Amino acid sequence: MAEEGAITVIGTGRIGSVLARAFDAAGREVIIAGRNPAAGAALAASCQMARCLPIRDAAAQAAILVLAVSPEACVPVLADCADVLRSDTIVVSLTNGVSLSALGAVTARPIVKLVPTLAQSVGRGAMPVMAGPNAAPAHIETVMALAALIGMPAWIDDADTRVASNVAGSALALVARFGEAFVAANAGRAAHLSSTDLTAMMAETFGAVSDLVARGHSFAELIAATATPGGVTEAQMAVLDADLPALCERIVDASFSRQSALQTESQARLT
Ligand SMILES: NC(=O)c1ccc[n+]([C@@H]2O[C@H](COP(=O)([O-])OP(=O)(O)OC[C@H]3O[C@@H](n4cnc5c(N)ncnc54)[C@H](OP(=O)(O)O)[C@@H]3O)[C@@H](O)[C@H]2O)c1
Repeated sequence: MAEEGAITVIGTGRIGSVLARAFDAAGREVIIAGRNPAAGAALAASCQMARCLPIRDAAAQAAILVLAVSPEACVPVLADCADVLRSDTIVVSLTNGVSLSALGAVTARPIVKLVPTLAQSVGRGAMPVMAGPNAAPAHIETVMALAALIGMPAWIDDADTRVASNVAGSALALVARFGEAFVAANAGRAAHLSSTDLTAMMAETFGAVSDLVARGHSFAELIAATATPGGVTEAQMAVLDADLPALCERIVDASFSRQSALQTESQARLT
């Protein structure tokens, strides 16, 4: 069964590096492959046990084949190694930029989608998991078990891919952007505190929000407990509330529009 075999990560960029290091640290056999052998060797050297092989050799040994390459490279890279895959290999796609059916057109192996983030480098972060072509429940469970080693997987229906990716994936950047802007606005008025001091405080606050919600407090409770009537926080909340709902709608609209454009571009590349 695929659970105990090698995890091959093709792609040595941002997310390939995160996943290779995280699975390696979790004690799994990791094989790294990329089109740039020096980058693959450097990534392997930063792991405990992982090794680096040429793409087809790495694919041939994969129980789990993770496509951590740019969206436009996913189909050609998978097509190039489809003939060497084992009969029990599960293909894992990470991207919203290529439809799972396009990947299924070049291999009969089961395809499962996983949406990871940088959060997995610290063993945190929700990871939506979706079934693609030929993926049976056992394949999903295998990927879920694997993902549970490095974060918090959640099996979702394909119809919810976009919203789950927004909340579990993009939100890492969106929340960080809010932190960056809020620190900058305060740093501009600070007498002695530096941006570094304020960033550390902001990060601690993010961590506290996470822990409090994990202990059962709703976001609304945190707001009510902090923004006392007539106080300073309530004045700030009024500013935020005036613009935030509409802003969030526009952010979600942008994600759906971009998703459609990416799927159209992907289809155009394949025809
Ligand atoms: N970053 C994230 O947080 C994140 C989260 C979820 C999903 N994803 C998805 O994960 C994938 C990788 O994203 P990323 O952020 O890691 O991108 P990245 O840092 O730009 O890395 C992309 C990798 O793909 C490799 N590549 C491109 N074309 C290739 C080809 N024809 N053959 C072999 N390798 C090729 C690149 O090789 P070179 O280094 O030689 O250019 C690079 O190692 C994307 O599909 C993205 O949608 C990313």
